[in-house]
Amino acid sequence: MRALTVTPGEQDSLLVTDMPDPVPGAGELLVEGLALGICGTDREIVASAYGFAPPGEKRLILGHESLGRVRQAPAGSGFVPGDLVVGVVRRPDPVPCQACARGEFDMCRNGRYTEHGIKEIHGFGSELWKVEVDYAVKLDPGLEAVGVLMEPATVLAKAWEHIMRIGARAWFEPRRVLITGAGPIGLLGAMMGKARGLEVHVLDLATEGPKPRLVHDLGGVYHTGSVGEAVEGCRPDIIIEATGVGRLVFDAMENTAAAGIVCLTGVSTAGRHMEVDAGSINRDIVLENDVIFGSVNANLRHYEIAAAALAEADRSWLERLITRRVPLERALEAFHPEPGDVKVVVDLGRE
Ligand code: BGC
Repeated sequence: MRALTVTPGEQDSLLVTDMPDPVPGAGELLVEGLALGICGTDREIVASAYGFAPPGEKRLILGHESLGRVRQAPAGSGFVPGDLVVGVVRRPDPVPCQACARGEFDMCRNGRYTEHGIKEIHGFGSELWKVEVDYAVKLDPGLEAVGVLMEPATVLAKAWEHIMRIGARAWFEPRRVLITGAGPIGLLGAMMGKARGLEVHVLDLATEGPKPRLVHDLGGVYHTGSVGEAVEGCRPDIIIEATGVGRLVFDAMENTAAAGIVCLTGVSTAGRHMEVDAGSINRDIVLENDVIFGSVNANLRHYEIAAAALAEADRSWLERLITRRVPLERALEAFHPEPGDVKVVVDLGRE
């Protein structure tokens, strides 16, 4: 089969190449890949800043934002050929730690978890892939065009769940959310904020392209100034930071409401230094009972929440998040950003 592969740690090693067909074991599905979403983590792996091949192998099949169609399923598994599925990204650590032992592998305590297409297990960027029945999630058959947005949606389903759980530490009736960054994570976060009945504000640099309209059509307000100006204009109870840009992260932390919650979702690269007034930031966080927390990955509960959120969402709006599709043989093009990109997807289906 053809697959999108990379040698982690090696520059310019991204390649569409032949890899052995997967052989499903007992309790596993064989899946025909339909689409693969590309995100910042994939770009980091390609830039050899992250990523680990499976033990004993040199190359890693890339891809964790999956969508596929079941070709073979074990009898009685609850899946049948033709089902639309996504594969869960993370697997619990083998120890397992107390969190992984309880199915909360997204909160793994010892860092020995593995992740498809990222850390020690092959990803879903291939014509065929296999996945354990227990880590496959069935999607509404009507979601074929947008189901590839599931994985980023799970990340936001978790972030929102944790925001609400943290808020529940005291009286909490949030009315407004500000999201920094109108990429797929920011926009899916906005969609879920709207579904919760909140007033949604999204801040991004882009003044052209699809982002302003996507926010507008969601019923949200689009901002292009600084975080301080956006906060001044909307006084959010919650900020979701979805860029990972150091300045914005600290701007978000400095601009919270009293008892405000800031959820950081953007993974940044190390080594960017800047000056901050640590005294003032700490003082505000303490005196206002603020919470700043990070959120990554998602467990099976969040996959179920995300599947329901996508099924309920406006499908044509979701389709507009996918701004570019490239066939597998030209997958390298997906790694060269173009103006107007929101989500770029590699089509895996045979032409
Ligand atoms: C993925 C997560 C993953 C994280 C770190 C993100 O891009 O969405 O599932 O845990 O990268 O590897």
